[in-house]
Amino acid sequence: METPQDYRCFQAIPLSGSLGAEIIGVDLSGAIPQALAAEITAAFRQFHMLCFRDQTLDLDAYRRFALLFGPFSGNPIHLALPGYPEFVRVVKEPNQDGPTFGGNWHADLTWFEAPPKATMLYVEEAPRVGGDTMFANLHLAWERLTPTLQRMIDGLIGIHSGYGAYGTNAMLKSVKVVDEGWEISRTEVEHPLVPRHPETGRPFLFVNPNVIRIKGMTEAASRPLLDMLFHACTRMDTTCRLVWRSGSIAVWDNRCLLHHAIGDYPQYRRVMVRTTIAGDRLTVTTGAAHVQAA
Ligand code: SIN
Repeated sequence: METPQDYRCFQAIPLSGSLGAEIIGVDLSGAIPQALAAEITAAFRQFHMLCFRDQTLDLDAYRRFALLFGPFSGNPIHLALPGYPEFVRVVKEPNQDGPTFGGNWHADLTWFEAPPKATMLYVEEAPRVGGDTMFANLHLAWERLTPTLQRMIDGLIGIHSGYGAYGTNAMLKSVKVVDEGWEISRTEVEHPLVPRHPETGRPFLFVNPNVIRIKGMTEAASRPLLDMLFHACTRMDTTCRLVWRSGSIAVWDNRCLLHHAIGDYPQYRRVMVRTTIAGDRLTVTTGAAHVQAA
């Protein structure tokens, strides 16, 4: 995390040593003054994931809050809520069979030319127990690689495609997939394996299950390296675990974090409203000074 700083509009309580903070003393249901918006933006940059508790948000208030982070990215895969094309409702019913939506380490829509900057979830109904979400910090994953390995992989390009991920999710009952979703998610897009964060310039290890191969290598030859890097991305000491309550809303940086929904609540209902914020094309050209010296 970046250097700690004090905030005047709220208290920020870190959720782990790696990322994440609970923000205390903010009501997001009304207009958000500029000073508060500026501090939320700064805390987002510092902690990468923010959670606000005990909020009562209708979709208009949710939309107002989301727009603090930028315009919506759109989501060509999932069926949106009527009248609110930016939002998707993810529902898991008690004893629903099949896998949990988002129940693996991943990042959202990284096969977009410009992957979403942020993902947000608002809890309409939390399970009585379980259903947490875990997050992993990809800056730390990069910084904990040895300099030799960093030199080997910095400059490589990952090929991202959503087909695998959405092929599975399309079979889930939790969220509806539009008919053309399968085809759309076949797109292949190139991103650096080690982009510089568009706002801070800090490098991060951009490896997730959407990376199907490394440019210039076959899938089979890429796989061992990608598996090893993915393992580095999901080390327990890069993570934080968020315990949801009804009325919690969280926003996280979808570029420098992975997330993982834990499906350990078979007997309970869980209802989340989800959206994503547009990001920038990822490059290696800013913040090169962050690369460790040889
Ligand atoms: C997701 O992958 O967006 C779902 C995360 C969750 O429901 O906890």
